[in-house]
Amino acid sequence: MNIKKYGKFSIYHFDEIDSTNLYLRESYNSLDEFSVITSDYQSKGRGRLGRTWHTNKDNIAISILLKPKVINNDIARISLVVGASVYKTINKYKKCMIKWPNDILIDGKKVSGILLEAVSAPPINALIIGIGININQMIFEDDIKNKATSLKLLCNKEIDKDEVLLSLLDNFYDLYNKFLQGNDEYIEIVRNNSYLTGRKAFINNREVQIIDINDDGTLKICFNGTIENVNSGEVTLEKIYQ
Ligand code: BTN
Repeated sequence: MNIKKYGKFSIYHFDEIDSTNLYLRESYNSLDEFSVITSDYQSKGRGRLGRTWHTNKDNIAISILLKPKVINNDIARISLVVGASVYKTINKYKKCMIKWPNDILIDGKKVSGILLEAVSAPPINALIIGIGININQMIFEDDIKNKATSLKLLCNKEIDKDEVLLSLLDNFYDLYNKFLQGNDEYIEIVRNNSYLTGRKAFINNREVQIIDINDDGTLKICFNGTIENVNSGEVTLEKIYQ
């Protein structure tokens, strides 16, 4: 493991680890806010909904530790702050979209996934932000090859992983501090680059029309002529239509 300072961040880099999120779950007590764990390989990379997330040295696996004063009400918003930060970072290389709450897609395929995990054990609250970005991977496993893509596949050139990583940290630091000061730039980014808006989707067994992203970060949907607002903890998007 080696440690590098980058602005407010301390970056702990591993060649191999079980999961960068898991590492922070186990060590958040002794680490400062803005500690960052990165690894070339993850043997037990975790995805949303209990899925596995494959990481090899072609891709970025990173977890950032936050220690917010209170977390419960803010998790959904911070999740969008992270989505907006990853969007800004990837969009410099290739036009991408945010599939609410925070998957990043290019041409409908996933290039980045985000997993937030909260640990609330007063007096310390920890929020672990895990981000996986497919950078230079050329071949994907059969089960995900129709759904996943990488920056290299789309840009037709090798991408500098470290450059993407530092730019991600800059973008996150900027948007997170703005969020803490009440500036909702992240919502504008999520709204203006929303993949779901205008599409039909199945949410919790109902076919709904996706209308917009609200100012509070919830999703505005229409079901049978009635408008509803849903938050990311409450919904599973079962199917999306073009
Ligand atoms: C998703 O399912 O879309 C979320 C994937 C999140 C993967 C990242 S890779 C770095 C961090 N460590 C993990 O074990 N998972 C997250």
